[in-house]
Amino acid sequence: MTEQIAVGVIGLGGMGGRHVDNLQHSASAARVVAVMDVDKGRLADTAARCAAKEHEDAYELIADPSVEAVLIASPDASHAELTLACISAGKPVLCEKPLATAVADARLVVDAEVAARRRLVQVGLMRRYDPRHVDVRDSIARGDIGRALFLRGWHRNVALTPLPSAREAMVNSVVHDLYSARWLLDSEIAEISVLATPIDQGRSVEPVLLIISLRMTGGALAVIEFNMDSSYGYEVGIEVVGSEGTVTGAPHHTPRIRRGGQISQPVEQDWLERFARAYELEVTAWARSALEGRVDGPSAWDGYATLAAAEAGVRAISEGPQVLDLGDQPA
Ligand SMILES: NC(=O)c1ccc[n+]([C@@H]2O[C@H](COP(=O)([O-])OP(=O)(O)OC[C@H]3O[C@@H](n4cnc5c(N)ncnc54)[C@H](O)[C@@H]3O)[C@@H](O)[C@H]2O)c1
Repeated sequence: MTEQIAVGVIGLGGMGGRHVDNLQHSASAARVVAVMDVDKGRLADTAARCAAKEHEDAYELIADPSVEAVLIASPDASHAELTLACISAGKPVLCEKPLATAVADARLVVDAEVAARRRLVQVGLMRRYDPRHVDVRDSIARGDIGRALFLRGWHRNVALTPLPSAREAMVNSVVHDLYSARWLLDSEIAEISVLATPIDQGRSVEPVLLIISLRMTGGALAVIEFNMDSSYGYEVGIEVVGSEGTVTGAPHHTPRIRRGGQISQPVEQDWLERFARAYELEVTAWARSALEGRVDGPSAWDGYATLAAAEAGVRAISEGPQVLDLGDQPA
């Protein structure tokens, strides 16, 4: 076994650039050998930064024999097809969320992986690696709060610009919150309801705030606030109420200061800041597991199940509560 896995990265923007740096500087089990982006300037800069081969075509990068594993951080609409190409090539792949932009395409990825008879796909639902979320998960697993009954989550953005449509918000961002509920409550989403409100009630414009209610297969409940325009900062918080107590994850990494009759705390301004450590731990764990011939992070099924709930949530805005039928989860 070689000591490092040779990774090719597709899409070198905000997220891809961060992944390249983390692979180069934090993930000792990985080295970046090839990169691809449609932006030629960005491609050349990143290739020079990590002495990697430049590819102008994503499928060529996936087929490149010097690439042993692939990280996909190109725009959402490209994810499913590129992930399918990685499965065909038999290469482990870390695909940014969402796994696809339509649930039928996510299901194709699940089915292709089942046909390959091998787990190859990890989806970039990185809260699984966020120390603040892991604390909550560990506390529930230790039995600190008894049986988990209710999850309250909030996901606030400073000001998403341009304002996404409700569908874009559900598919691109709320999938993280749906994953948190499934992961922390250790169950699937059985039913989803969504209420939406615009800033100006008098005009018919896209919503800025969604209230998402979930009933889980084990009977637990969840309510999540997704706020596109908090105006003060980026904040992701979680609280789980159990039969014997409640656990709350700290929403910020920053210190709290008491001074001059005030308590203050700096608030992160975006996900790259808030989840910096989670992104590092995510690629580090993925590279290590891929090198050791396994994939064990958030799965293609997680990508499919979160997207199915997100799509049902979009319907729920106009049609009311939606019951989910995911079909059988492959072993
Ligand atoms: N897990 C997270 O917390 C998180 C956070 C942000 C973004 N994301 C996801 O990461 C992906 C990238 O987001 P971003 O914020 O870096 O966007 P970005 O716009 O900053 O970067 C996207 C990059 O992809 C390139 N690109 C465009 N079309 C391409 C194609 N067909 N093939 C290859 N490259 C192409 C662009 O030139 C750009 O460099 C998205 O899917 C997004 O949903 C995940």
